[in-house]
Amino acid sequence: AKRTRIKDLLNTTEFGQQVTVMGWVKTFRNNQFISINDGSSINNIQAVVDFNSTDESLLKRLTTGAAIAIEGEIIESLGKGQRVEVKVSRLEILGDSDAEKFPLQPKKHSLEFLREIAHLRFRTNTFNAVFKVRHALAYAVHKFFNDKGFVYMHTPIITASDAEGAGEMFRVSTFDPDNIPRNDDGTINYKEDFFGKATNLTVSGQLEGELAAMAFGDIYTFGPTFRAENSNTTRHLAEFWMIEPEMAFYDLNDNMDLAEELLKYLIRYAINNCSDELEFLKSRLLEEEKQKPQNERSELDLLAKLNFCLDNDFERITYTEAISILRNSKPNQKKQFKYLIDEWGADLQSEHERYLVEKHFKKPVILTNYPAEIKSFYMRLNEPDAEGRRTVGAMDILFPGIGEIVGGSQREERLEKLEGRMAELNIPTEEMSWFLDTRRFGSAPHSGFGLGFERLVLFVTGMTNIRDVIPFPRTPKNAEF
Ligand code: 4AD
Ligand code: MG
Repeated sequence: AKRTRIKDLLNTTEFGQQVTVMGWVKTFRNNQFISINDGSSINNIQAVVDFNSTDESLLKRLTTGAAIAIEGEIIESLGKGQRVEVKVSRLEILGDSDAEKFPLQPKKHSLEFLREIAHLRFRTNTFNAVFKVRHALAYAVHKFFNDKGFVYMHTPIITASDAEGAGEMFRVSTFDPDNIPRNDDGTINYKEDFFGKATNLTVSGQLEGELAAMAFGDIYTFGPTFRAENSNTTRHLAEFWMIEPEMAFYDLNDNMDLAEELLKYLIRYAINNCSDELEFLKSRLLEEEKQKPQNERSELDLLAKLNFCLDNDFERITYTEAISILRNSKPNQKKQFKYLIDEWGADLQSEHERYLVEKHFKKPVILTNYPAEIKSFYMRLNEPDAEGRRTVGAMDILFPGIGEIVGGSQREERLEKLEGRMAELNIPTEEMSWFLDTRRFGSAPHSGFGLGFERLVLFVTGMTNIRDVIPFPRTPKNAEF
């Protein structure tokens, strides 16, 4: 059927025209006003029903959540805060919604409650705004790279390699669990499995991305990645989306420049293209802040926070510098950190990352040159420092309220060094021969990084739980739908 979307209707000046609108009832009040939303805008259209000329049995069915179609005349609204409404001449219920049973009432629900009815939360303003912003950011990722001439490379979801070497993989197998073929020594015989070898869901498209970068120069992947890490936090998902560019002839500085440019571009894109949604999310956040004690409230509102990020260079410091800042910090000295920093070489915990970003520098920070021991095998070894310590050309970007949002590095392009690192970490080189070929034939300096898409959406929307920025969250003990 021909219908007008509410987003367009709210901006129209064609008063007197007839329109058809279809959507879901938000509220019906005073037996006269229906607020209808069709998802095209976070704002509703108000429809005015002539109570006396409408069948009473029909009016009874105008409950929150019902799907309806209305036809009527576009009129100028006298109500506050809206310009346009529709004077209804024909009303049709497309799908009833039992008011007693419908879980979404026209009131504010907690995010925890909405998470329990995640299949219906799309119908709320908050999730309308969040997923519109998510959509805009996904589009902007492709636009950014396309405009720069990067090639979008689809890397496999099912793979035989563990890109991060962290062993946090979901196995992919067609074996009957009650009848798993075994070798003589009792180990599982994957030769009998679908692919003839052990396979898993990808944790990162990087290694395959490197193959493509060594031919196309500049590529990126943007796809789902999977981690079986059992961390039930507000920052971790078992299934999340990652943006991974990989660039030939880039060193670590080029890599940082690109990552900072990308993040600023994406934030600016959202500000310019999602103003209704961000305004809504900003007020939502202000309401939430009011519940907190004065001294815990954020100084900046959502838009100020986003703009602040655009207006400032990210602070770039080495891991070694960060350790000395942390060691001398008040929380460390006063033993307020859960994990005290006393030795060079320790991995930073999120409390340390947040201290650096939120308390010390008060802006996004890029940490570089981590100890080799705490980073992945593929990162480029630096010359040992004055004290003979080994670091790699890694870079992590830390954001306020988020912690790590980007992880990346310059890659080890020297075959012997790479093989040396793999041997140290017991990574079998025969199975990775395809990867090592990039270093055997025309190896070149190259770099790349991974941007966690949900962490970006968290930052831009001001939401605080990662489960609220992905439509269908997968976390430990939770895979509904
Ligand atoms: O730091 P990570 O593990 O890096 C890699 O996977 C590299 N192969 C990327 C590359 O260089 N091409 O992950 C990159 C980013 C993190 O900074 C974080 O934003 C996000 O992915 N991330 C997660 N997001 C949600 N849930 C999880 N469990 C995540 N693990 C990582
Ligand atoms: Mg990382």
